[in-house]
Amino acid sequence: RLAYVNGQYTRHAESLVHIEDRGYQFADGVYEVIAIRHGVPVDMAAHLRRLEHSLGEIDIPMPMTPKAMVMVMRRVVRANRVWDGIVYLQVNRGVAPRSHPFPNPAPEPSVVITARPLPPTPAAVLEKGVTVVTTPDIRWLRRDIKSVALLPNCMAKEKAARAGAFECWQVEDDGTISEAAASNVWIVDQAGRAITRPLSNRILAGITRLKLLELARGEGIEVEERIFTLKEALAAREAFVSGTTAFAMPVVKVDEAVIGDGRPGAVTRRLRELYEGMIG
Ligand code: PDD
Repeated sequence: RLAYVNGQYTRHAESLVHIEDRGYQFADGVYEVIAIRHGVPVDMAAHLRRLEHSLGEIDIPMPMTPKAMVMVMRRVVRANRVWDGIVYLQVNRGVAPRSHPFPNPAPEPSVVITARPLPPTPAAVLEKGVTVVTTPDIRWLRRDIKSVALLPNCMAKEKAARAGAFECWQVEDDGTISEAAASNVWIVDQAGRAITRPLSNRILAGITRLKLLELARGEGIEVEERIFTLKEALAAREAFVSGTTAFAMPVVKVDEAVIGDGRPGAVTRRLRELYEGMIG
């Protein structure tokens, strides 16, 4: 396996970053995960735009042009023979003696790019749907920045893993659902409207979420970007989560409550179909 680290292509097993990299010491870095489907990146331009947003919000310069980044990603994807899988891209502020304020002058940002195969979700999982658990959302309030400070997300995912669940929905103090540990949350109400939380500092602007909204609108499926509560979700006809690796994943149980008739719903299945159609 081959990785890209700070301008060099190195053997994955021997790829290292410095001990005083601020990504390591302060989680001072941001990342992207891009799906590769049939050898082609899914929605690359949108991921690069979000990366620029994340970096811009914390004053890390874009370490290379988007075009150069795409070239590196392509090379790493090829070298690792990824047909269906993911690219992982991380940009940290760089290496400097440990001190909280951003170093001045700014160090050279560290860039790591890796890729690995990831088999598509088995049909049996999609037919059955998945279960999720819930947890209080204990994260910071700049979730629009795709920061590598993911400990709360890891704790939420661990809670899901221990319960044998696929995801963990995060619930705000006011009872509303923000998003899941590594995906956005959707419900479908009794009228068949697909509902997802509007963009703000409280959720990551999922690329998959955006694409699904676009596809739904194009197909005349009613969508609503609005805040909803866990209570409302439990009474929904359908539910699903969206993300780079999950695409649109039907949710049939939340904690102990069955959603709808306990099977993946028609709107969810239709949206997933449209998404799969779009990525070929
Ligand atoms: N996670 N919300 C959070 C907190 C996420 O971490 C992610 C993605 C999403 C969905 O965004 P997108 O559709 O752009 O993948 C929403 C990635 C896949 C990860 O951390 O591995």
